Amino acid sequence: MTLVNPMKLTCASISLREPHMAELLARELPLPYLEVMADNFLSGRGPHYHLLKQLAERYPIELHCVGFSFGSTLDPDYLKAIARLAVDLNARSVSDHLSLSAVPGGFVHDLLPVTYQESSLQVLCDNLGRTQEVLSQPLRLENPSRYLSYQADCLTEGEMMTELHRRCGIEVLLDINNLYVTGHNLGIEPEALMADYPAAAVRQYHLAGHAQQPPLLLDNHGNTVSEPVWQLYQQALESFGVHPTVIEWDDDLPALDTLLGEARQAERFATRQGDRTEIGGMDRASGIG
Ligand SMILES: [Fe+2]
Repeated sequence: MTLVNPMKLTCASISLREPHMAELLARELPLPYLEVMADNFLSGRGPHYHLLKQLAERYPIELHCVGFSFGSTLDPDYLKAIARLAVDLNARSVSDHLSLSAVPGGFVHDLLPVTYQESSLQVLCDNLGRTQEVLSQPLRLENPSRYLSYQADCLTEGEMMTELHRRCGIEVLLDINNLYVTGHNLGIEPEALMADYPAAAVRQYHLAGHAQQPPLLLDNHGNTVSEPVWQLYQQALESFGVHPTVIEWDDDLPALDTLLGEARQAERFATRQGDRTEIGGMDRASGIG
């Protein structure tokens, strides 16, 4: 049997992946919550869904999505399916990205960046508003990894998030690795990218590993969190406070304990920051931010 590190996690956790579900149920780990990739469970049936329902009885669920395409066309059937899943799992939040995937003639299986300008804000606000009318959970928007920018861009990513928070009341899921990858790929200091974010709106963090493919960094979720990303996470904690932090891993998925090790490292950062600031914005007793 695997030995469990006795360190109690109150802030950091993991994004659930199907190969780890049975082990998570068997080990009864004291995790504060689980993030669940909603798009993998839209059918609401099957053996993995049965496991998920059992996990949802044990852990609070943060529902994460990739199919809304808030930057282009909202699919009402997808929205209904996500809302149904959120109720069924008693999810406490729903998130997706500041991006688009639905394009004329089909759906690209990627998170394409929107142009950072007023016309995009209007489309986004319309779609976010319609989504909020259906969901009963807070809606969070995540910064995507970007590999290109547009000549039409006239707002920064942080200014886009600020406007969306002001106009629609959305919360921000700040992916620290995405921020680092975007900064590298676009030649912008990631600290400068982060400086424009609306501090009052940040409610959750993502951490993950990336791959080097010179001259680019690829957000492949296939490695441990890199040292510069840990440093950027520290800066985010100082700027925006301690919030629930999720470790994401997809490519070359390792053993569950490797993900838990990364979560414990995030917990150490959050605890040190919490000790300094007496836990701004985070209820450490319950682990619920
Ligand atoms: Fe993420």
